[in-house]
Amino acid sequence: MRYLLLGVLVSVVLTGCTDKQEAVAPDISAGRTIAEANCVGCHGLDGRGAAPGIPHLAAQVSEYLLASLHDYQEGTRTHAALRDLTEAMSDADIRNVVGYYASLPPVKDTTMKETQETALSPFEKGKARAAVCASCHGEGGHSKVPGTPSLAGQQPLYFVAAVRAYLDGSRSISTMEATLRGLSNLDMQNMALYYASQTPIQRDPPAFGDAVAGEPLTARCGGCHGAGGVSHDAATPSLAGQDAQYLVSAIKAYRDRTTRHVDVMLVGSSDKQIEDIAAFYAVQKPKAAQDKPISAQELAKKCDRCHDPAVENPAMAVPKIGGQNKDYLLMALRAYRDGKRESSMMHNMSLPYSDTLIESVASWYASQPAR
Ligand code: HEC
Ligand code: HEC
Ligand code: HEC
Ligand code: HEC
Repeated sequence: MRYLLLGVLVSVVLTGCTDKQEAVAPDISAGRTIAEANCVGCHGLDGRGAAPGIPHLAAQVSEYLLASLHDYQEGTRTHAALRDLTEAMSDADIRNVVGYYASLPPVKDTTMKETQETALSPFEKGKARAAVCASCHGEGGHSKVPGTPSLAGQQPLYFVAAVRAYLDGSRSISTMEATLRGLSNLDMQNMALYYASQTPIQRDPPAFGDAVAGEPLTARCGGCHGAGGVSHDAATPSLAGQDAQYLVSAIKAYRDRTTRHVDVMLVGSSDKQIEDIAAFYAVQKPKAAQDKPISAQELAKKCDRCHDPAVENPAMAVPKIGGQNKDYLLMALRAYRDGKRESSMMHNMSLPYSDTLIESVASWYASQPAR
């Protein structure tokens, strides 16, 4: 964010003091001749990248195309073929071929004809899938129905294991079965991520049980379920803030060895003790198992401060990236992040991004219509 502000500041200063370069109109038909001779094999005559990883040039911002060809010529941006080609070109050749490609209508990228759903992050896909669970488990997994567990903040591996246990019949509940059938492994993992990053809501004390009496009974539970029932192990469920009635039935199921199989030392506990344990865990302060991942759209809002083609940016040659080839976007973003392509601005923008985030923002822009 600091870098972003810096960038905006710099651009304001630059706008104030640069003279616009005297524009020489490009000779578009001379540009086409150069394109036919030298560029067609990779960029086509319609400006479409001929293979994954080759950028579309059609309708690109001409100042940006000019700047990048000069970068290849001077070697500040490296690509063997382009270095050789641009070395042999005069300023007028470069101006003309750029004029040609910039004048073309934007290409429709047929490789990204899927809907925007494919551009959603795993978190957003999980959120969409989880909508059908909300009638019982509550919006965001905050259950308000006694006997139905909250899923908000739950550990992701445990979540997946629990869903599988219902599906393979080792845990049974007929009411939920219809909703769970048909979930793929990927669905489960996406939902696990979504729920894990919901911040659970602290509960009011239940109508039964004595939390104070329950606390000492949980001494041996904390080693696995964490202090106060906030688990730090992805396969062990958090109990803090869980619905008390659900806790009672789950603990009883262990005690009575009816449905669940973990070898917990609950044998011999009385119903009263179990209610006290449940009351204790229900009112503990819960915590999300995972930080909320930033979505591709949220990220794109930051990028659009410079990359929105509707925003005039006379001080900077900012390329259009909507509808660009996805592999090329991936490559370019990784190159900035890893310092392999020079642009201090883009390097600073992409520095904190993981490969999955870069993947989702690249998919997002590739799936946008080119303008
Ligand atoms: C051998 C295939 C090939 C040929 C021939 C070729 N290019 Fe490229 N071009 C590429 C690739 C690959 C990239 C991306 C390289 C990179 O990552 O910097 C690229 C990038 C560019 C870029 C930067 C675009 C951007 O979005 O940053 C411009 C401009 C460009 N080429 C123009 C041309 C012109 C003009 C010609 C003909 C004179 C040409 N290229 C010939 C493969 C080619
Ligand atoms: C008709 C109501 C209902 C619907 C719809 C429903 N559930 Fe459930 N779910 C329950 C109940 C009740 C339980 C407690 C069952 C038990 O005691 O084992 C439960 C338990 C669970 C658990 C175990 C939680 C834990 O802490 O062990 C998971 C995971 C789960 N549901 C996931 C889902 C998902 C994912 C969906 C949507 C695809 C869904 N449920 C839809 C009622 C529902
Ligand atoms: C050795 C580690 C371990 C200890 C000790 C342990 N648990 Fe667990 N517990 C687990 C694991 C792992 C699961 C999930 C596996 C499963 O359900 O089969 C689980 C599941 C549960 C569940 C079900 C949660 C849900 O959302 O469905 C409850 C309730 C529970 N434990 C309560 C307790 C209590 C109370 C104690 C102490 C008396 C205790 N556990 C001690 C490991 C442990
Ligand atoms: C402060 C303005 C600014 C912001 C914010 C910004 N960019 Fe850029 N971006 C630029 C500039 C300037 C360039 C051209 C740099 C160069 O010449 O290599 C660029 C280049 C790119 C390129 C290379 C395109 C091509 O055709 O080679 C991609 C991809 C890109 N940006 C993606 C993003 C993404 C994704 C974000 C948000 C995470 C973002 N940018 C945020 C200014 C910005």
